[in-house]
Amino acid sequence: MVMVLENVAPLGRSLEEYWLMFGLTEKDLDKKIIGIGDGPASFNAEMKELGNNVTSVDPLYEFKGEEIEKKFYASVDNIIDQVKSSPGDWAWTYHSSPEDLKLHRKQAVVKFLRDFEKGKAQGRYVVGELPSLDIKEGSFDIALCSHFLFLYSDHYDYDFHKKSIYELLRIAGEVRIFPLLDLLLNRSPYIHPIMEELRGEGYRVRIEKVEYEMQRGGNEMMTIRKNGSGT
Ligand SMILES: C[S@@+](CC[C@H](N)C(=O)[O-])C[C@H]1O[C@@H](n2cnc3c(N)ncnc32)[C@H](O)[C@@H]1O
Repeated sequence: MVMVLENVAPLGRSLEEYWLMFGLTEKDLDKKIIGIGDGPASFNAEMKELGNNVTSVDPLYEFKGEEIEKKFYASVDNIIDQVKSSPGDWAWTYHSSPEDLKLHRKQAVVKFLRDFEKGKAQGRYVVGELPSLDIKEGSFDIALCSHFLFLYSDHYDYDFHKKSIYELLRIAGEVRIFPLLDLLLNRSPYIHPIMEELRGEGYRVRIEKVEYEMQRGGNEMMTIRKNGSGT
């Protein structure tokens, strides 16, 4: 049985947020995409509506939709209250206020829940957890990881991050991770050493500015490619 870490928030984002966080383009839609730690995001459901198949992996998917829904509602108010108590920490650009943020998170979970059981039967929602995934090498073009790696740097050590990133590179030609900040809005201490490590192994690693910012200053993603793949 996989372990669901209690302090990893069971909240999810929309396709539009994924689009902005990861600088996705129309060209990317033709690629095979996997989202790691997608949780109750509506990314997969909305992509399916547009005719694109995405695979999402998360330990949360071992639960039934109604249990995931309960977990969402058990934590959303507490998280919104924490956001309200630290107004200066957040960029109110995409979401206009804490209430607007809550509305967006609710809209995402509703879309996710509508799709989840069917999508799980179709193999689009897969139970799994980093640092080790039961997925064949090179199965995907792009692996996306939103609000898990780097964000929880206080809970997961450098070794976990390193193993997880190599695992993502095993299953996909390109890896994109957002954000690069931890929960306290500091740049994760693992960014610099992991970039050195990966470059030393011949990977192309870049930090790119993106058009999404929720944590103040958190508008950068990391892209990692095997040398010789893509542009
Ligand atoms: C803050 S949520 C982010 C959800 C989604 N990626 C988004 O940005 O909307 C973090 C997710 O990471 C998942 N998670 C926890 N431990 C994990 C692990 N070891 N491997 C992959 N995902 C994990 C949680 O279940 C949760 O759904």
